[in-house]
Amino acid sequence: MQILSDYLKQTGVDANLQSLIATLADCSVEISQLVRGGALAGVLGATESENVQGETQKKLDVIANDLIKDKLAAQPLVKALASEEEDHVVACHADGHYLVSFDPLDGSSNIDINSLVGTIFSVLPAQAGIDGEQAFMQAGRNQVLACYMLYGPATVMALTTGNGTQMFSLDPTDNQFKLVDGAVQVPADTSEFAINMSNQRFWQAPMQQYIADLLVGKEGPRGKNFNMRWIAAMVGDVHRVLSRGGLFTYPTDTKDPNKPFKLRLMYEANPMALLVEQAGGIASTGYETILDIQPNHIHQRVAVILGSRHEVAECLAYHSR
Ligand code: F6P
Repeated sequence: MQILSDYLKQTGVDANLQSLIATLADCSVEISQLVRGGALAGVLGATESENVQGETQKKLDVIANDLIKDKLAAQPLVKALASEEEDHVVACHADGHYLVSFDPLDGSSNIDINSLVGTIFSVLPAQAGIDGEQAFMQAGRNQVLACYMLYGPATVMALTTGNGTQMFSLDPTDNQFKLVDGAVQVPADTSEFAINMSNQRFWQAPMQQYIADLLVGKEGPRGKNFNMRWIAAMVGDVHRVLSRGGLFTYPTDTKDPNKPFKLRLMYEANPMALLVEQAGGIASTGYETILDIQPNHIHQRVAVILGSRHEVAECLAYHSR
């Protein structure tokens, strides 16, 4: 089986990106070990502090965030980093080539129940003369690399450098990521969807109608039965979509009028959108292609509808009616 570094070399990935990917892989191998240690390693449970998004941080969130920050700060190619867990952009190397955004531990409420969590990275090119938060205000289309590492029964990495999406699995015998799929393809059709149904009464009319039509199955306008799954960690739900297709959404809702969207553009929506698009799927807010959004804040949130292209197109049709 081909190891990650050999694959990147052989497929002609830019040498700097190869070096950065090695750093990201290195972070995830260590986080994977911590996650696996769980309660024994004393890393579970909440800390007192709340993060910038007003959520209680778990101990492992803090540990993973610090670990990634330290490793990226030691990587000369990184100009600056932005983390879901940090209020502000952290400057690293003035002559670095890349801006790295990350969610150190996505789905962290799953930690306490020994369920799926993961790390998500998004990399933008640094531009001469633009620093601080302003440097990160680039559409997701500019990403030179997006990846996630899912800490499940196996630790896996989904990666794109803009040339398709590849899947690697971490071999625990030598801690090397090895290629398992060189051209991930999201099936165009699906009969599976993922949404937090408990928010139903807070959705907007198009999503209400779309989901209602899925739920009536064979007897309804879609003429087939649908299955539902919800992992409560985007990284787990997107991994299922990349593995066997599906539609994943966290739509606009009115639950908290000050927070109509849940998922973060820079740390979740953009990297997942690139991975899904590069695997033949679609990622939209319902009204706009995610990768075309011009960001205005590093902690900006957006609505997300992504996955199998025919099914996402069906859902988008409800939004344009
Ligand atoms: O943004 C954090 C996150 O945990 C996502 O990974 C996940 O898709 C979503 O929130 C889960 O939301 P809920 O708590 O509504 O199930």
